[in-house]
Order: sequence, then C-alpha cells, then structure tokens
Amino acid sequence: MAPLIAPSILSADFAHLADEAAAVAGADWLHVDVMDNHFVPNLTLGLPVVKSLLKATDIPIDCHLMITDPDRWAVAYAEAGAYNVTVHAEAVADPVAMAANLRAAGARAGLSLKPGTPLDGWVDVLKHYDTLLVMTVEPGFGGQAFMADMMGKVRQARTLVDTGHLTVIVQVDGGISADTIDQAAEAGADCFVAGSAVYSAQNPAAAVAELRAAAARHRPPAG
Ligand code: DX5
Ligand code: ZN
Repeated sequence: MAPLIAPSILSADFAHLADEAAAVAGADWLHVDVMDNHFVPNLTLGLPVVKSLLKATDIPIDCHLMITDPDRWAVAYAEAGAYNVTVHAEAVADPVAMAANLRAAGARAGLSLKPGTPLDGWVDVLKHYDTLLVMTVEPGFGGQAFMADMMGKVRQARTLVDTGHLTVIVQVDGGISADTIDQAAEAGADCFVAGSAVYSAQNPAAAVAELRAAAARHRPPAG
C-alpha cells in the first residue's frame, strides 16, 4: 500500500474550508479534528460543518473525534458519509459496539490512543477496527512538536499487523513534517496526518505529494 497523506484542516482557514479542501487536491484523506472543549481544551467544529465539507469535496473525510461521549455522537458522522471515523480509546465506553455501529453506518472504524495510553490492553478491541491512530502529540492543538518516543508504539502496531494479529491501517497524527515523517515511516506507519506542515506551505498540494514521496522512501522493507 502506498503511504496515505491526510492533511488536517485544523491548520486551514475555517472561513474558506471548501477552498482549503481544494488546495490539497491529491490528498488521500482529509482529516477533520472535532474537539468539544471537554475531552481536549479546544473547540473546533461538529457535524453541521462536516456535512457541508462532505458536499464540498470528493476527498474521503477522516473524522478524528476528540470528544467525551463518542458513544452518543460518533455514528452520526458515519451516517453523514465520513469515510473513516476515529474515536478515542480513553473516551469510548463500549469500543466493540462502537466499531460495529460505525461499520454498519458505512464508515471505517478508527481507534485513537493518546501518548500516555499504551497499545497493550487494546489489541483485542482493535481486531474490530480498521484504523489505529497513534497520537504523536497531546491532542488539542496543531503545530506541536512531534513525540519521537511514540515510535515504539507505532513499531508494535506494525508488528501486530505484519504478523496477522491486526488488520488496521496505522495512522500517526501530530508534528508530522518533512523533518519527522521519515521516523514515522521507518517505524511502520501507513497514514500520516499533517496540519501545519501542509497548510503553511506555499503550495499545499505539492507539500502533500512531497510528504508521500518521503514516506515511501522510508518504508520498512517488510510488510
Ligand atoms: C491535534 C490534532 C491534529 C493536528 C495536527 O490534536 O489531532 O490532527 O491538526 O496538526 P500538526 O500537523 O500541525 O501537528
Ligand atoms: Zn487529528
């Protein structure tokens, strides 16, 4: 599988989201950070904006729900047409039912781990999921420094996939740039979220292509 690049619109101009989606033509997924000011100390956008975005772009929408009660709210994003809906392990009450409900509504199901949440303990649950999002910053804000010490978790996930124990896409989110994507790719990530690195570039679409090429150069030989 070629590396997937998912620009995060958290770093885009919220007054021009349709244009900002168009600016990353060629992106694999468009990453949408939903924050509720409870799970994380920041407030962004919710379902109405996601519904408008879905009409405004053909890029598959990847919803990253940083909210306290995903059991109540997540399925609506899948029903609206999001391609992948990711909930946080630290917030979800019934993760197995959540995955089934997201899939039944037509989306891929994602589970995200904050930096302090180990992968151990979530492996059986992840057998029900399509995507594993390994946070490489504390969730809440764009533009933070990449946590290289999360690469052990990415390697552990890669090994579980390569040995047939899991079938998830391994996604990383936070501080991914031309300077850090090599580390995440070498550790075995499949999908790379990048907010500030893409939207601060002169040419965001070119930045996406460059990140994809860099990730491809640094893929581990196996897998
Ligand atoms: C942080 C968000 C990220 C954020 C990444 O909580 O989940 O998706 O947009 O931004 P950068 O790439 O700037 O670290
Ligand atoms: Zn995110």
